[in-house]
Amino acid sequence: MESFWKSLPRPFFVLAPMADVTDPAYRALIAAKGKPHVTWTEFVSADGLYYTREKKGIPDAENPLMRDLTFTDAERPIVAQLFSSNPETMAYAAKLCAELGFDGVDINMGCPDKSIEKQGCGAAMIKNPAKAKEIIAAARTSGLPVSVKTRIGYNQESIDEWLPLLLEEKLPALTVHLRTRKEMSKVPAHWELMPRVVALRDTISPETRIIGNGDVLDLTDAEQKIVESGCDGAMIGRGIFGNPWVFAGRSIEDTSPEERLSALSEFAHAFEAMQPAKSFHLVRKHVKAFAIGFDGAAELRSKLMDTTTADEMDAVLTEYRLS
Ligand SMILES: Cc1cc2nc3c(=O)[nH]c(=O)nc-3n(C[C@H](O)[C@H](O)[C@H](O)COP(=O)(O)O)c2cc1C
Repeated sequence: MESFWKSLPRPFFVLAPMADVTDPAYRALIAAKGKPHVTWTEFVSADGLYYTREKKGIPDAENPLMRDLTFTDAERPIVAQLFSSNPETMAYAAKLCAELGFDGVDINMGCPDKSIEKQGCGAAMIKNPAKAKEIIAAARTSGLPVSVKTRIGYNQESIDEWLPLLLEEKLPALTVHLRTRKEMSKVPAHWELMPRVVALRDTISPETRIIGNGDVLDLTDAEQKIVESGCDGAMIGRGIFGNPWVFAGRSIEDTSPEERLSALSEFAHAFEAMQPAKSFHLVRKHVKAFAIGFDGAAELRSKLMDTTTADEMDAVLTEYRLS
């Protein structure tokens, strides 16, 4: 089967993986309001999948990790993002993703979270390229196209040392978050460095699609960054906060308060239906981004932050609309 990566237009725009944000309910909202060319799941622990299914025998319907991996055809092409430093569990999880019908697997090699790095995963892979290659090989046993998302270095920029090692793997796609691990998200993304990444790609692996990531606000911004830097696609993360229409080409200023509040309610109901075991605080996390930019927004936000169900949220919104 031909990899979907080959048939994407240029430029193309993709949804970033964001733990506890791009869950199945939020992804459903995005698919409905403005679909990206490729959707990523939140990252999922391959070790966790192996352990909960094979060792503990937790039924899939009750397994939160399996719930994170639910999706609908409306989100295709969809890529499951996995992390592990154990080739056996990576092979297991990637095969499972193939059975679940995913279009691809992406490996997280950029997460700066200490608990992830302690497991030798995320950005820790930048310091252990041999392991990174082993993990890629393990994921490939699934038969799915395997892509990688990483950063431009660990403590310092090391594009010329780190990225060739990944490009040698002839990945179908490589997402580069244009910051080092040390920079976390504290400095502006170094888009000025992207031409060097593209030049390496042209020499080492011309078929690899390069996706730039970091501080992309909306599609206008994405197009400009792609044109200026020469990469093939852009990944948008925080730009979807309060703006599930971003991939339909709308900036947050183009959306009305009523549209945003209705979308928040739609998300809250989908969240309850799709993730009954997860805490409603994950819905409240979105309130600040959706209920903003109109008279009375601060007071409305504070009331919405006291809600614990989608119906309670609706009651607060109805009261606000009548006031
Ligand atoms: C709340 C949150 C959760 C994230 N979770 C993940 C993740 O699961 N996997 C991953 O590769 N990156 C994760 N990231 C990083 C984003 O995918 C992205 O690289 C980063 O936010 C920069 O892009 P942006 O400026 O468009 O937001 C996360 C970022 C945020 C803000």
